[in-house]
Amino acid sequence: MRYEVDFLIIGSGIAGLSYALKVAPYGKVCILTKADASEGSTKYAQGGIAAVMYDSDSFEKHIEDTLVAGDGISDREVVEMTIREAPERIAELVQYGVNFDREGDHFDLHREGGHSAFRILHHKDNTGAEIERGLLQAIHDHPNIELKEHQFAIDLITQHHLGQRVTKHTEGIECYGVYALDCRTQQIDTYLAKTTLLATGGMGNVYTTTTTPIISTGDGVAMVHRARGVVKDLEFVQFHPTSLYNPAEKPAFLITEALRGAGAVLKDAKGEEFMQKYDSRLSLAPRDIVARAIDNEMKRSGVDHLYLDARHIGRAALMNGFPTIYAKCLEIGINISKEMIPIRPAVHYQCGGIAVNKNGESTIRNLYAAGECSCTGLHGGNRLASNSLLEAVVYAHNAAQDAIARVGQLSICRQVPDWSSEGMVFNEEMVLITQTKKELQEIMANYVGIVRSDLRMQRALDRLNLIYRETEDLYQRSVLTEELSELRNLIACGYLITKQAMARRENRGLHYSIDLIGK
Ligand code: FAD
Ligand code: SIN
Repeated sequence: MRYEVDFLIIGSGIAGLSYALKVAPYGKVCILTKADASEGSTKYAQGGIAAVMYDSDSFEKHIEDTLVAGDGISDREVVEMTIREAPERIAELVQYGVNFDREGDHFDLHREGGHSAFRILHHKDNTGAEIERGLLQAIHDHPNIELKEHQFAIDLITQHHLGQRVTKHTEGIECYGVYALDCRTQQIDTYLAKTTLLATGGMGNVYTTTTTPIISTGDGVAMVHRARGVVKDLEFVQFHPTSLYNPAEKPAFLITEALRGAGAVLKDAKGEEFMQKYDSRLSLAPRDIVARAIDNEMKRSGVDHLYLDARHIGRAALMNGFPTIYAKCLEIGINISKEMIPIRPAVHYQCGGIAVNKNGESTIRNLYAAGECSCTGLHGGNRLASNSLLEAVVYAHNAAQDAIARVGQLSICRQVPDWSSEGMVFNEEMVLITQTKKELQEIMANYVGIVRSDLRMQRALDRLNLIYRETEDLYQRSVLTEELSELRNLIACGYLITKQAMARRENRGLHYSIDLIGK
């Protein structure tokens, strides 16, 4: 089937949905999403969204905290713009029907690591689910928006599909839409669009242990890389210091940083505090520092988890402020008002991604990116807690304004051919895919994790090259499936993370190598 729209959106998390609501009055909008509409990292966000709301805080302090967390390489103009725009974007979310907790006529604000003030708007400890609910409701009420679930975007359509040779040096690469697999009929459809937005989220599943849902497979980044667009800063993989240690569970359940903001303290295997050895901000230091400290303590004492002690916060405050965490821990037999919570770091967020300018434009014409799949310059070497949801709404807004201004001058490219599966066979052996995915995740966890070295990264690259060749060979022969497409994307992302990590010859933010100590 062939479809034509003004605004094509890939992804139905906070970035895709908030962009859709903005562009909808100006043309036909289609959102493709590869799973159920609500599935994505947005739904699992706990802590909240950072914004300066009252005079007790200031833009300057939030800007400074963001720059410090970013370890000196955030783009200051981007940081200033994002943080100053925050109150307006929050007001829009509230207008769409999102409920943030209030105390009287004020928002109740939490504090998280790296923040010098209480500035995190939240809904209990399940803020993301509330945002996703509010936005989906607003989308369903809009007549111009079609939301199509279980549609897997495979590749961007560019001049390459018109038979032209496209390299990374080609000037003026254009995006005409995407090819997408209908996961229910297994047919591959052609979606032609005047403008396309990638809002495909993160890539946590490149690693073994991640807080991100199974849909986070780096599809947008891999598609842009294949289409010869620019992706950057992928070496900055953020590990959240405190995922619940419950090895059988995938994805790893998050223990929000807001719990440390409320007074919970990190402790070692003997139940003693240790953060004083690493940073004066103790358990509330930025994530890169806390995650490395935990990793070091675990390796030093040979244990596979440490603890977060929230007992002194008290049962009533825990049950009221953190009901999701309280219930989850109880479900696995831990009463957090009486026992310490076993925790370990887990891959949580990708600071890098598709390079975009302040309007959310990628290096490919008519292609925008917003949310976790993009790289705006806000996070630099390390993202400040709760700045991700904020970045997503700010850039969805900016991209929407740009697309609205330009869509009238753009046209649909109808010469694009349909996808051809001629000569392909069904690959009956799922084990080839599942085993390779496991291999990839282990390579990345063991060699390109919190602490890296030249030797480990080279070893990763050698092994990645092998599984890349095997998987490309399978891809050339097989009828395309969602699993195979995700595997290709994950391998591409693993490769890009490793190459970009090897190219960074300094310890900076989340990139830390034992060969670069002192550099
Ligand atoms: P997502 O919400 O991940 O949505 C991606 C969408 O793209 C999904 O709909 C998916 O199905 C779709 N998609 C992907 N690939 C394809 C494809 N090939 N074809 C079609 N559709 C596709 N950040 C904060 O600021 N504050 C927090 O408190 C916070 N807590 C978090 C807690 C957890 C457990 C996690 C995992 C992350 C948290 N983050 C938090 C990070 C934040 O939630 C995410 O960065 C943000 O929600 C990403 O939004 P998004 O719209 O970019 O992507
Ligand atoms: C958390 O709640 O700790 C996660 C916040 C974030 O990822 O920004």
